[in-house]
Amino acid sequence: MANTLNVEKLEREVKGVYRAVAETPDGEFHFQMGRPLAEKLGYPPTELDQVPARAVESFAGVGYHFDLADLHHGDDVLDLGSGSGMDAFFAALHTGDSGSVTGLDMTDEQLEKSRSLRDEAGAENVSFEKGYIEELPFDDETFDIVTSNGVINLSAKKDSVFEEANRVLKTGGQLAISDILSETHMPDSITTNADLWAACIGGAMQINDYTNLVEEAGFEVIEVRENPQYEFISEQALGACQKYGVKSISVGARKQ
Ligand SMILES: C[S@@+](CC[C@H](N)C(=O)[O-])C[C@H]1O[C@@H](n2cnc3c(N)ncnc32)[C@H](O)[C@@H]1O
Repeated sequence: MANTLNVEKLEREVKGVYRAVAETPDGEFHFQMGRPLAEKLGYPPTELDQVPARAVESFAGVGYHFDLADLHHGDDVLDLGSGSGMDAFFAALHTGDSGSVTGLDMTDEQLEKSRSLRDEAGAENVSFEKGYIEELPFDDETFDIVTSNGVINLSAKKDSVFEEANRVLKTGGQLAISDILSETHMPDSITTNADLWAACIGGAMQINDYTNLVEEAGFEVIEVRENPQYEFISEQALGACQKYGVKSISVGARKQ
């Protein structure tokens, strides 16, 4: 029988990992997290000071891409796979009250945490919705900017993610994302293993294939850059980094 990825198992595994990220950020993970990681990736510390600290402690992104988007007061931003909300609160510092930020995530515990932090902070221009990044619950041409940090590698339908991001963006709208990709194509034994997907390795797409998908969805790719500051910490992940060139990349693109 040909190897295939069990998508239901993948969703269960991913939700299990990110439930723990929300509830026990001090636990052991195969990736770095929290404020030290955010600063290392390039988030300005003075702006992180203005984001709820408990959102920063559960930050599990892989890059800093806000300089790839022209974020202005009044913009409407969508963050795909918003986790505990750090990037959404960060974006809201730039959109101001005249704009808005919507975070979307499928994991209940992440949503519970981000929503309670939003309520505590009284951040009325920030909201968190439950849903899948492959099937966005928003109308066409709703947003100015779509962001995502460390999420799209976890999706088994990356083409749908980019098509949906394109659909909900206004014409000329921007995509600014960071993700885990690979230099080479990985064997089926890795790309069909749900455990390795949940560890952000199995779903790491080859870099050119990934940017081709972004373009096929209707974007012009403007910048692709590596984030060498991002390092995996588990042995399994480090092995894949060496063997297949698994790494963090940021991409800036514009809807044509
Ligand atoms: C690596 S974490 C990153 C969270 C956040 N972006 C951050 O930087 O901290 C991945 C997040 O994506 C969510 N996620 C993964 N696959 C998803 C999907 N298909 N639809 C919606 N959310 C998804 C997970 O629940 C988790 O919160």
